[in-house]
Amino acid sequence: MQTEHTLLPTRLEHVPLAVFAHRLTASCAVAAEVAGLIRARQRQGRTVVLGLATGSTPVSFYAEFVRLHREERLSFANVITFNLDEYRGLSADHPRSYGRFMRRHLFDLIDLPETRIHLLDGAVPDAAVDAHCREYEEKIRAAGGIDFQILGIGRNGHIGFNEPTGSLRSRTWLKILSEQTLKDNSAVFGSLAEMPKHALTMGIGTILDARRILLLAFGPAKVRAVEHMVEGPLAAICPGSALQLHPRATVILDENSAAGLHYADHYRWIDSHKLDWQKYD
Ligand code: GLP
Repeated sequence: MQTEHTLLPTRLEHVPLAVFAHRLTASCAVAAEVAGLIRARQRQGRTVVLGLATGSTPVSFYAEFVRLHREERLSFANVITFNLDEYRGLSADHPRSYGRFMRRHLFDLIDLPETRIHLLDGAVPDAAVDAHCREYEEKIRAAGGIDFQILGIGRNGHIGFNEPTGSLRSRTWLKILSEQTLKDNSAVFGSLAEMPKHALTMGIGTILDARRILLLAFGPAKVRAVEHMVEGPLAAICPGSALQLHPRATVILDENSAAGLHYADHYRWIDSHKLDWQKYD
Protein backbone atom coordinates (compact mmCIF):
# COMPACT_ATOMS: atom_id res chain seq x y z
CA MET A 1 0.00 0.00 0.00
CA GLN A 2 1.42 3.36 -0.94
CA THR A 3 0.71 6.54 0.93
CA GLU A 4 3.29 8.73 -0.78
CA HIS A 5 2.64 10.85 -3.84
CA THR A 6 4.22 8.53 -6.31
CA LEU A 7 1.39 6.35 -7.53
CA LEU A 8 3.54 4.31 -9.87
CA PRO A 9 3.53 0.62 -9.05
CA THR A 10 7.00 -0.66 -8.23
CA ARG A 11 6.60 -4.39 -7.75
CA LEU A 12 3.56 -6.46 -8.57
CA GLU A 13 3.12 -8.40 -5.35
CA HIS A 14 -0.52 -7.30 -5.40
CA VAL A 15 -2.62 -4.84 -7.38
CA PRO A 16 -0.83 -1.62 -6.43
CA LEU A 17 -2.88 0.39 -3.98
CA ALA A 18 -2.63 3.92 -2.70
CA VAL A 19 -4.81 4.57 0.34
CA PHE A 20 -5.43 8.19 1.29
CA ALA A 21 -7.06 9.60 4.40
CA HIS A 22 -9.43 11.70 2.28
CA ARG A 23 -10.79 11.53 -1.25
CA LEU A 24 -9.80 15.15 -1.93
CA THR A 25 -6.14 14.45 -1.17
CA ALA A 26 -6.38 11.37 -3.36
CA SER A 27 -7.92 13.31 -6.24
CA CYS A 28 -5.20 15.98 -6.01
CA ALA A 29 -2.48 13.29 -6.09
CA VAL A 30 -4.04 11.74 -9.20
CA ALA A 31 -4.35 15.14 -10.90
CA ALA A 32 -0.71 15.91 -10.03
CA GLU A 33 0.40 12.60 -11.54
CA VAL A 34 -1.47 13.19 -14.81
CA ALA A 35 -0.44 16.87 -14.91
CA GLY A 36 3.18 15.73 -14.62
CA LEU A 37 2.83 13.70 -17.81
CA ILE A 38 1.00 16.53 -19.62
CA ARG A 39 3.83 18.95 -18.77
CA ALA A 40 6.57 16.46 -19.64
CA ARG A 41 4.99 15.87 -23.05
CA GLN A 42 4.63 19.63 -23.58
CA ARG A 43 8.37 20.00 -23.10
CA GLN A 44 8.88 17.30 -25.76
CA GLY A 45 6.33 18.90 -28.12
CA ARG A 46 4.13 15.78 -27.89
CA THR A 47 0.45 15.08 -27.22
CA VAL A 48 -1.00 13.05 -24.32
CA VAL A 49 -4.03 10.79 -24.72
CA LEU A 50 -6.31 10.60 -21.68
CA GLY A 51 -9.18 8.15 -21.16
CA LEU A 52 -11.76 9.86 -18.96
CA ALA A 53 -14.52 8.63 -16.68
CA THR A 54 -17.74 10.12 -15.34
CA GLY A 55 -19.80 9.56 -12.17
CA SER A 56 -19.45 11.35 -8.85
CA THR A 57 -16.02 9.87 -8.09
CA PRO A 58 -13.84 11.86 -10.55
CA VAL A 59 -15.57 15.22 -9.91
CA SER A 60 -12.94 16.45 -7.43
CA PHE A 61 -10.19 15.19 -9.74
CA TYR A 62 -11.61 17.38 -12.54
CA ALA A 63 -11.98 20.29 -10.11
CA GLU A 64 -8.28 19.99 -9.33
CA PHE A 65 -7.47 19.98 -13.06
CA VAL A 66 -9.45 23.22 -13.39
CA ARG A 67 -7.60 24.73 -10.42
CA LEU A 68 -4.24 23.72 -11.89
CA HIS A 69 -5.28 25.36 -15.17
CA ARG A 70 -6.44 28.60 -13.54
CA GLU A 71 -3.87 28.97 -10.79
CA GLU A 72 -0.82 27.07 -12.00
CA ARG A 73 -1.16 27.67 -15.73
CA LEU A 74 -1.48 24.01 -16.66
CA SER A 75 -2.41 23.99 -20.33
CA PHE A 76 -4.41 21.19 -21.96
CA ALA A 77 -3.53 22.30 -25.47
CA ASN A 78 -1.57 19.09 -26.08
CA VAL A 79 -4.21 16.76 -24.61
CA ILE A 80 -6.47 14.38 -26.54
CA THR A 81 -9.38 12.81 -24.66
CA PHE A 82 -11.55 9.73 -25.10
CA ASN A 83 -14.47 9.24 -22.76
CA LEU A 84 -15.30 5.79 -21.54
CA ASP A 85 -19.01 5.59 -22.11
CA GLU A 86 -22.37 7.19 -22.88
CA TYR A 87 -25.99 6.32 -22.22
CA ARG A 88 -27.74 4.83 -25.25
CA GLY A 89 -30.27 7.25 -26.70
CA LEU A 90 -28.68 10.44 -25.35
CA SER A 91 -26.87 12.81 -27.67
CA ALA A 92 -23.82 14.64 -26.32
CA ASP A 93 -25.87 17.77 -25.61
CA HIS A 94 -28.64 16.01 -23.65
CA PRO A 95 -28.64 17.51 -20.13
CA ARG A 96 -28.13 14.06 -18.52
CA SER A 97 -25.55 12.83 -21.00
CA TYR A 98 -21.96 12.13 -20.02
CA GLY A 99 -20.99 14.54 -22.80
CA ARG A 100 -22.70 17.39 -20.93
CA PHE A 101 -21.22 16.16 -17.65
CA MET A 102 -17.74 16.47 -19.12
CA ARG A 103 -18.42 19.97 -20.46
CA ARG A 104 -19.78 21.12 -17.12
CA HIS A 105 -16.99 19.69 -15.00
CA LEU A 106 -13.99 20.04 -17.30
CA PHE A 107 -14.10 20.74 -21.03
CA ASP A 108 -15.74 24.19 -20.83
CA LEU A 109 -13.39 25.27 -18.04
CA ILE A 110 -9.98 24.56 -19.57
CA ASP A 111 -8.17 25.19 -22.86
CA LEU A 112 -8.67 21.70 -24.33
CA PRO A 113 -9.13 22.07 -28.12
CA GLU A 114 -12.65 21.01 -29.21
CA THR A 115 -11.25 18.85 -32.02
CA ARG A 116 -9.34 16.74 -29.51
CA ILE A 117 -12.40 15.72 -27.50
CA HIS A 118 -13.80 12.27 -28.35
CA LEU A 119 -17.14 11.09 -27.00
CA LEU A 120 -19.27 8.10 -27.86
CA ASP A 121 -22.51 9.22 -29.49
CA GLY A 122 -25.37 7.62 -27.58
CA ALA A 123 -27.87 8.84 -30.19
CA VAL A 124 -26.29 7.07 -33.18
CA PRO A 125 -29.00 5.10 -35.13
CA ASP A 126 -29.35 1.39 -34.32
CA ALA A 127 -27.96 0.31 -37.67
CA ALA A 128 -24.81 2.38 -37.15
CA VAL A 129 -23.96 1.30 -33.58
CA ASP A 130 -21.42 -1.39 -34.50
CA ALA A 131 -19.66 0.85 -37.02
CA HIS A 132 -19.61 3.71 -34.51
CA CYS A 133 -17.98 1.46 -31.88
CA ARG A 134 -15.40 0.19 -34.39
CA GLU A 135 -14.61 3.78 -35.47
CA TYR A 136 -14.08 4.77 -31.82
CA GLU A 137 -11.53 1.98 -31.43
CA GLU A 138 -9.89 3.12 -34.67
CA LYS A 139 -9.68 6.72 -33.43
CA ILE A 140 -8.00 5.57 -30.21
CA ARG A 141 -5.47 3.59 -32.24
CA ALA A 142 -4.89 6.52 -34.62
CA ALA A 143 -4.21 8.81 -31.64
CA GLY A 144 -1.46 6.42 -30.52
CA GLY A 145 -3.42 4.58 -27.79
CA ILE A 146 -4.42 5.82 -24.34
CA ASP A 147 -1.55 6.99 -22.13
CA PHE A 148 -3.56 7.44 -18.95
CA GLN A 149 -6.95 5.87 -18.28
CA ILE A 150 -8.96 7.24 -15.36
CA LEU A 151 -11.60 4.85 -13.99
CA GLY A 152 -14.23 4.70 -11.30
CA ILE A 153 -15.99 1.49 -10.31
CA GLY A 154 -19.65 0.63 -9.85
CA ARG A 155 -20.91 -1.04 -6.67
CA ASN A 156 -21.24 -4.28 -8.65
CA GLY A 157 -17.65 -4.01 -9.90
CA HIS A 158 -18.41 -2.54 -13.34
CA ILE A 159 -15.84 -0.36 -15.10
CA GLY A 160 -17.06 2.01 -17.79
CA PHE A 161 -20.43 0.36 -18.37
CA ASN A 162 -18.98 -3.14 -18.56
CA GLU A 163 -21.42 -4.91 -16.32
CA PRO A 164 -20.72 -8.24 -14.59
CA THR A 165 -20.37 -11.24 -16.94
CA GLY A 166 -19.20 -9.20 -19.94
CA SER A 167 -16.14 -10.60 -21.71
CA LEU A 168 -12.78 -9.50 -20.32
CA ARG A 169 -11.60 -9.21 -23.94
CA SER A 170 -14.47 -6.96 -25.05
CA ARG A 171 -13.92 -3.95 -27.28
CA THR A 172 -16.13 -0.83 -27.48
CA TRP A 173 -19.72 -2.09 -27.55
CA LEU A 174 -23.36 -1.71 -26.63
CA LYS A 175 -24.17 -3.02 -23.15
CA ILE A 176 -27.40 -3.63 -21.30
CA LEU A 177 -27.27 -2.07 -17.84
CA SER A 178 -27.73 -4.27 -14.76
CA GLU A 179 -30.56 -3.76 -12.30
CA GLN A 180 -28.03 -2.66 -9.68
CA THR A 181 -26.64 0.07 -11.96
CA LEU A 182 -30.13 1.22 -12.95
CA LYS A 183 -30.93 1.58 -9.26
CA ASP A 184 -27.63 3.29 -8.42
CA ASN A 185 -27.69 5.78 -11.29
CA SER A 186 -31.41 6.51 -11.62
CA ALA A 187 -31.38 9.41 -9.13
CA VAL A 188 -29.72 11.56 -11.80
CA PHE A 189 -32.67 10.88 -14.13
CA GLY A 190 -35.38 11.52 -11.56
CA SER A 191 -36.87 8.04 -11.94
CA LEU A 192 -36.04 4.57 -13.17
CA ALA A 193 -38.57 4.92 -15.99
CA GLU A 194 -36.68 7.85 -17.51
CA MET A 195 -33.30 6.21 -17.31
CA PRO A 196 -31.74 4.63 -20.44
CA LYS A 197 -31.40 0.86 -20.08
CA HIS A 198 -28.37 0.52 -22.38
CA ALA A 199 -25.07 2.27 -22.89
CA LEU A 200 -22.14 2.41 -25.28
CA THR A 201 -18.86 1.73 -23.54
CA MET A 202 -15.23 1.03 -24.20
CA GLY A 203 -14.72 -2.70 -23.66
CA ILE A 204 -12.58 -4.23 -20.95
CA GLY A 205 -10.02 -5.15 -23.61
CA THR A 206 -9.99 -1.51 -24.75
CA ILE A 207 -9.41 -0.34 -21.17
CA LEU A 208 -6.62 -2.86 -20.58
CA ASP A 209 -4.78 -1.54 -23.65
CA ALA A 210 -4.15 1.80 -21.87
CA ARG A 211 -0.51 2.18 -20.91
CA ARG A 212 -1.37 3.38 -17.43
CA ILE A 213 -4.58 3.01 -15.42
CA LEU A 214 -5.65 4.85 -12.28
CA LEU A 215 -8.90 3.58 -10.76
CA LEU A 216 -10.49 5.74 -8.05
CA ALA A 217 -12.93 4.28 -5.51
CA PHE A 218 -14.07 6.21 -2.47
CA GLY A 219 -16.56 5.70 0.35
CA PRO A 220 -18.14 2.72 2.10
CA ALA A 221 -20.43 1.88 -0.84
CA LYS A 222 -17.40 0.63 -2.80
CA VAL A 223 -16.01 -1.72 -0.12
CA ARG A 224 -17.25 -4.98 -1.70
CA ALA A 225 -16.30 -3.96 -5.24
CA VAL A 226 -12.78 -2.99 -4.08
CA GLU A 227 -12.35 -6.20 -2.12
CA HIS A 228 -13.31 -8.34 -5.11
CA MET A 229 -11.34 -6.26 -7.62
CA VAL A 230 -8.12 -6.45 -5.61
CA GLU A 231 -8.33 -9.76 -3.75
CA GLY A 232 -11.04 -11.79 -5.46
CA PRO A 233 -10.57 -14.12 -8.39
CA LEU A 234 -10.00 -12.65 -11.83
CA ALA A 235 -13.55 -13.07 -13.06
CA ALA A 236 -16.07 -11.55 -15.46
CA ILE A 237 -18.46 -11.35 -12.51
CA CYS A 238 -16.31 -8.42 -11.29
CA PRO A 239 -15.10 -6.53 -14.38
CA GLY A 240 -12.76 -4.40 -12.22
CA SER A 241 -10.78 -7.56 -11.38
CA ALA A 242 -9.40 -7.35 -14.94
CA LEU A 243 -7.00 -4.74 -13.52
CA GLN A 244 -5.13 -7.65 -11.93
CA LEU A 245 -3.88 -8.36 -15.46
CA HIS A 246 -2.55 -4.88 -16.08
CA PRO A 247 1.14 -4.17 -15.48
CA ARG A 248 0.72 -0.48 -14.61
CA ALA A 249 -2.63 -0.06 -12.88
CA THR A 250 -3.01 1.58 -9.48
CA VAL A 251 -6.14 1.53 -7.34
CA ILE A 252 -6.65 4.79 -5.45
CA LEU A 253 -8.71 4.41 -2.28
CA ASP A 254 -9.75 6.26 0.82
CA GLU A 255 -9.87 4.55 4.19
CA ASN A 256 -13.59 3.78 3.81
CA SER A 257 -13.33 1.98 0.49
CA ALA A 258 -10.19 0.12 1.67
CA ALA A 259 -11.88 -1.11 4.86
CA GLY A 260 -12.84 -4.54 3.47
CA LEU A 261 -9.36 -5.59 2.32
CA HIS A 262 -8.37 -8.77 4.14
CA TYR A 263 -4.64 -8.56 3.49
CA ALA A 264 -3.99 -4.90 4.33
CA ASP A 265 -1.33 -5.86 6.89
CA HIS A 266 0.38 -8.07 4.34
CA TYR A 267 0.48 -5.23 1.77
CA ARG A 268 2.09 -2.97 4.38
CA TRP A 269 4.59 -5.71 5.16
CA ILE A 270 5.45 -6.05 1.47
CA ASP A 271 5.81 -2.30 1.06
CA SER A 272 8.03 -1.99 4.12
CA HIS A 273 10.51 -4.29 2.35
CA LYS A 274 10.49 -2.33 -0.88
CA LEU A 275 13.99 -0.97 -0.36
CA ASP A 276 15.50 -4.44 0.08
CA TRP A 277 13.86 -5.57 -3.09
CA GLN A 278 14.97 -2.75 -5.30
CA LYS A 279 18.29 -4.41 -6.04
CA TYR A 280 16.44 -7.34 -7.63
CA ASP A 281 14.09 -5.16 -9.74
C1 GLP B 1 -21.24 4.91 -13.87
C2 GLP B 1 -20.11 5.05 -14.87
C3 GLP B 1 -18.83 4.46 -14.36
C4 GLP B 1 -18.58 4.90 -12.92
C5 GLP B 1 -19.69 4.41 -12.04
C6 GLP B 1 -19.54 4.77 -10.58
O1 GLP B 1 -21.97 3.75 -14.03
N1 GLP B 1 -20.42 4.47 -16.13
O2 GLP B 1 -17.76 4.86 -15.21
O3 GLP B 1 -17.36 4.39 -12.48
O4 GLP B 1 -20.90 5.00 -12.51
O5 GLP B 1 -20.15 5.99 -10.30
P1 GLP B 1 -19.87 6.89 -9.03
O6 GLP B 1 -18.51 7.43 -9.21
O7 GLP B 1 -20.92 7.95 -9.09
O8 GLP B 1 -19.99 6.00 -7.87
